[in-house]
Amino acid sequence: MTDRWAALVAALDLESKVRLLTGASLWALPAEPRLGLHPVVASDGPQGVRGTGEVPGQTGLLAPAPSAVGATWDPAVAERLGRLFAAEAHRKGVDVVLAPAVNLQRTPVAGRHFEYLSEDPLLTGTLGAALVRGLQEAGVAACLKHFVANDSETGRTRYRARIDARTLREVYLAPFEQILAQAGPWSVMGAYSGVDDGIESAPMLEHRRLLRDVLKGEWSYDGVVISDWAATRSTAASANAGLDLVMPGPDGPWGARLVDAVRRGEVDEAVVDDKVLRLMRLAARVGRLTRPWAPGEERPPLPGRPVPPPPGEEDFAVLRDTAARATVLLRNEGGLLPLDARRLTSVALIGPNAVQPYLQGGGSAYVPAVRTVTFEEGLRAALPGHVGLTVHRGGSSRRRAPFIDPSRTSSPDLAAAGVRAEYLDAAGVPLGTEVRRTGDWGGFGSFPPGTHRVVLRTRITLAEPGTHLLEFGCSGRFRVELDGETVHSGQHDRGVELILESSHSHPETHRHPVSVGTEPRHLDLTMDLCVVDADGYGRFVTAQLRHLPPGPSAAEEITEAVAAARRADVAVVVVGTNEETESEGWDRPDLRLTPQQDELVRAVAAAQPRTVVVVNAGAPVLLPWAAEVPSLLWAWLPGQEAGHALADVLLGRAEPAGRLPWTLPARAEDVPVPDAVPVDGIVDYTDGLHIGYRGHDRAGTTPAFPFGHGLGWTRWSYDRAEALRTLVRADDASPAGADGPALAVTLTNTGPRAGREVVQVYAEAPDDGIDRPVRALAGFTCVSVPAGGTATAAVTVPLRAFQVWDEQTAGWRARTGRHRLRIGRSSRDLRLELDVEVTTDGGGTVLRLPATGR
Ligand code: BGC
Repeated sequence: MTDRWAALVAALDLESKVRLLTGASLWALPAEPRLGLHPVVASDGPQGVRGTGEVPGQTGLLAPAPSAVGATWDPAVAERLGRLFAAEAHRKGVDVVLAPAVNLQRTPVAGRHFEYLSEDPLLTGTLGAALVRGLQEAGVAACLKHFVANDSETGRTRYRARIDARTLREVYLAPFEQILAQAGPWSVMGAYSGVDDGIESAPMLEHRRLLRDVLKGEWSYDGVVISDWAATRSTAASANAGLDLVMPGPDGPWGARLVDAVRRGEVDEAVVDDKVLRLMRLAARVGRLTRPWAPGEERPPLPGRPVPPPPGEEDFAVLRDTAARATVLLRNEGGLLPLDARRLTSVALIGPNAVQPYLQGGGSAYVPAVRTVTFEEGLRAALPGHVGLTVHRGGSSRRRAPFIDPSRTSSPDLAAAGVRAEYLDAAGVPLGTEVRRTGDWGGFGSFPPGTHRVVLRTRITLAEPGTHLLEFGCSGRFRVELDGETVHSGQHDRGVELILESSHSHPETHRHPVSVGTEPRHLDLTMDLCVVDADGYGRFVTAQLRHLPPGPSAAEEITEAVAAARRADVAVVVVGTNEETESEGWDRPDLRLTPQQDELVRAVAAAQPRTVVVVNAGAPVLLPWAAEVPSLLWAWLPGQEAGHALADVLLGRAEPAGRLPWTLPARAEDVPVPDAVPVDGIVDYTDGLHIGYRGHDRAGTTPAFPFGHGLGWTRWSYDRAEALRTLVRADDASPAGADGPALAVTLTNTGPRAGREVVQVYAEAPDDGIDRPVRALAGFTCVSVPAGGTATAAVTVPLRAFQVWDEQTAGWRARTGRHRLRIGRSSRDLRLELDVEVTTDGGGTVLRLPATGR
């Protein structure tokens, strides 16, 4: 096969081959009849499959965000989601889903924390591999991203992550290596950021050691290395380092420049051929490679694909079940949960996120959902008719005002409600006008060809007496005038950076108070914006016009909500993040909720002893009141079925079976890596191996809730741990994911309800003078057990749990001595233990275990 492909490639001229190495558009790869290559289409990932945007108004299935998938600790759930994504891909004509994202949650403030699975490499690797299997078994390529150590957003297109070689191998490369070994993803995305591992310091797409020597060399990777979008900044350096495909296209730094570089001898033509062969392999894998066809000849038919029916109840049920299972019951004093619907008469649903749930994180992962079920809708559908449900915001949690109500705006000639845009060319010659009834001109990019400036004009009418706030958010070069006076301006003209680093949809805003007396006020607004050129992402302007009318203060809304809580049988308070907080493009400044939310929770819990607090966030937020509320659920960014899933949990129809895939710190000062702001372009991974819970363990801090914690509906006794084999011999050079010892853990469900337990095994290495985490997750499995039942769970611990990366020999070697395996319910609730004696034996590792542990 490959010989035949090689012959076809050899018959192409250099220009034709190089043309294939840059995308044909934002999402599609080029076709080449002479190779039998049909267009291969990519789409984001990883909260669903967004599609290419070619079908106006196209929607899709919106899954719980990846950190929720992490909380299931269940590869079967991740694999099922992979299958669901594959069906979505088939519906939307997508061949490559840009997921999973397997960077690690190194700092809880990271903007894309919600998009990653866990702070632990093994949990990430195991779930990531399952997701890849689900996708690829259905013939859709996964794209493992973002290789590697792109764990935060601040300055993401420029920073270098400085990481020692051992940490890189044992922590940040580990999930990539594991997933490659266990599931063989057909593509990998190279990150915007760079790595300095002490041997080579380079942007990722130019990193020869990591791309060419490690990924493609040592790990024999045969798939396609795709650039992150608009990340490629060089020609020969990236081509030689191992990047195969520049995305998006058709422009970019390869093309004619790469042809020249080959002609000048800077890049070997064989390097180009190898990339083309990899693209053919990808196309073959996703059913997009046929026999060649001649110009003018009809394209040979592609192999048939399942055409799934449009998304429906079965898919919704999968998403609902995933979100419910992922929910973590952090605390349940007095067994308040689950609620008995028959005994309830009234429920007060309170909180900014109760009114406006945050269902998915922002940025490239965004999916317009086919439907959404809010918390209120879910509860209304689930509660019996006799139960009254009232809803109260209890103060806003947004820092920004909402978009202006278009009925307050009128075009300057007063002919219509709305905002009028005038399009001008570089000489100021008008090219056309348009009126839109919205204050949200974010990311708007459809204007007449040749448009250089967009001038938005409107007359704003403010009628209610009191103080109104007008708020303007623009990006690029712009000027905002109110009644002829400049109130806001900007000079930024680095287009692609606006898209990638601050997210143009989240521009800094400027607030302008306007006081209105008994007479309405009319204000003339002009927003004069230069069009921003953002390379492959197109040309756009961002202009936001927001407005906050006078209204009840947060304190007044809180008072009203507290009164409602007091009147009801139960208060359910939903607090959390929103699109202003959790998104790709920026990191959070801190982990706090807004002060109003903290105040709201405290006030409601003080007034109503039956208060359930639900946290609607993908990444940690501080809960200084956690010990003051009886029941506490973490509901994640739950995706489209949010309301049904929460109702299932609250009413006990589903178990909140999740376990934290990261640590919830008690205090800001306990966070091992509180931010990742580059200093002189460097993000220094001085925390080394001690990511997440390992950092808390090293510092001896007590988290609010530890890694792995989650109560579920029942109680467990851990009865016994046994070694399934007492002697294991393995080659030191075994691939990632190779099995070490297997344990049988017997446990009993001692509670009143059936439940699902995640049996967790942590390894503690011997104190041999080499740095080590206090303990590291070394295996886990899920078991479902009826009330009163006993089960035996088999947990396999990978060989790597007993190895270290040896910088001297650049290889893995056994860490000899006595390792302790500790088995339990979380990283801080360990019930059983079993020692493993590790020795070496002529290049191999020998593990000896007692038959039973303690
Ligand atoms: C993100 C990737 C994403 C790509 C395409 C980039 O900005 O980092 O995760 O797949 O855009 O949308």
